[in-house]
Amino acid sequence: MDYLQTKQSTSLSGTVTISGAKNASLPLIAMSILAKNRVTITNLPKVADIKTLLQLLTNLGAECVFIDDGVTIDTSTINKTTATYDIVRTMRASILILGPILSRFGHCEVSLPGGCAIGQRPVDLHLKALEQMGATIEIKAGYIQAKAPQGLKGANIIFDKITVTGTANVVMAAALANGVTTITNAAREPEVVQLCEVLAKSGVKIEGIGTAILTITGTNKELLNIEPFEIIPDRIEAGTYLCAGAITNSTITLKKVEPEHLHAVTSKLEEMGFSFSSTKDTLTIHPAKEILPVRIVTQEYPAFPTDMQAQFLALATQANGVSIIEERLFENRFMHVSELQRMGADITLNGHIATVKGKTQLSGTDVMATDLRASSALVLAALVANGTTNIHRIYHLDRGYVELEKKLETLGVDIQRLKE
Ligand code: UD1
Repeated sequence: MDYLQTKQSTSLSGTVTISGAKNASLPLIAMSILAKNRVTITNLPKVADIKTLLQLLTNLGAECVFIDDGVTIDTSTINKTTATYDIVRTMRASILILGPILSRFGHCEVSLPGGCAIGQRPVDLHLKALEQMGATIEIKAGYIQAKAPQGLKGANIIFDKITVTGTANVVMAAALANGVTTITNAAREPEVVQLCEVLAKSGVKIEGIGTAILTITGTNKELLNIEPFEIIPDRIEAGTYLCAGAITNSTITLKKVEPEHLHAVTSKLEEMGFSFSSTKDTLTIHPAKEILPVRIVTQEYPAFPTDMQAQFLALATQANGVSIIEERLFENRFMHVSELQRMGADITLNGHIATVKGKTQLSGTDVMATDLRASSALVLAALVANGTTNIHRIYHLDRGYVELEKKLETLGVDIQRLKE
């Protein structure tokens, strides 16, 4: 197993290029199941989660060919409809094939995703919506078995909670359904918006893109002709590098970003004393005179993203004063707290609220990554910790960050990937 050895690196500079968004790529890869043509996707981040989903499509019989900056996918050869346990257990987002496979083939089986490090994460809302669209769903031997032999039909879906992959799944199912589907309380994340925009360009009528009410007119099983498209920049990767600039109080520039998608993150950094300048597709963070404490509540887009909570928690250890960070989306998303405490952070956890007292001089030690974003918080903490920090179990990081250590190296970080 690999681990990352990071030496204290308190002064960063330079430019880092942001990759395509993992969470946009996953539904867009699943969407290729709705195509009649070979789909070309560029600016694809070749991280472990993307390779896992492409492996799943390959297992189903699709042909996926890596090209320079992306992949081409031919789903006309699909001859299986089951996402097996060995794949789903490594990546919950495998559930994204349920909507498109069911709507195209009339049945689909997906190993039921279990809980995960950050909480229970049920998929009940996905299943309830597909039932409303006419599917029969049974859970047998740990598998979701969905059937809709006559095809899916349009329905009026009201999500009790906003769900990102749930919205994506239903949008894809609705694209080939018979009739009109309305989704109320739909996710408005930029990744969902891109999925809708690509579908709309491919001939699916979708109204309300980017709002909480989506209306989708299905093609009644007519497959789509999907033109080549480029994945949007990864706002969470970008936010993580902004935190690297912030925690070291340095000036760094991000290239290939969409500042509008980062608004909740940059406005919190501004509250903490940092400033920004930008050009068409670059964003530069400038140091703060004094790093100020912050109050954060994670919520659905356009509010502050839960996927940036861990990184801001690490950053708050370097603010002068008391920061309060409240996690509203996942019940157990504070696994990084105990690791940061081992590095010397003064954090008190009370249910889903973390109180961080700063500024603390952190100390390098051996720490363990527990989930994707928790891992990046440990890397950030390592930048300002005395001495050397060894971050173990970085396969979590490899799920979602393209060449993290190489990108950090270009900013002047002393970091190495080593074997245990
Ligand atoms: C997606 C993102 C993940 C991000 C999360 C929240 C991808 C691949 N992953 O995850 O990085 O942290 O959004 O922004 O895009 N819920 C239910 N029942 C359901 C579905 C969800 O109760 O059927 C709950 C979840 O447990 C959670 C909340 O709804 O508390 C939001 O989850 P959801 O938006 O579905 O997260 P994901 O789509 O899994």
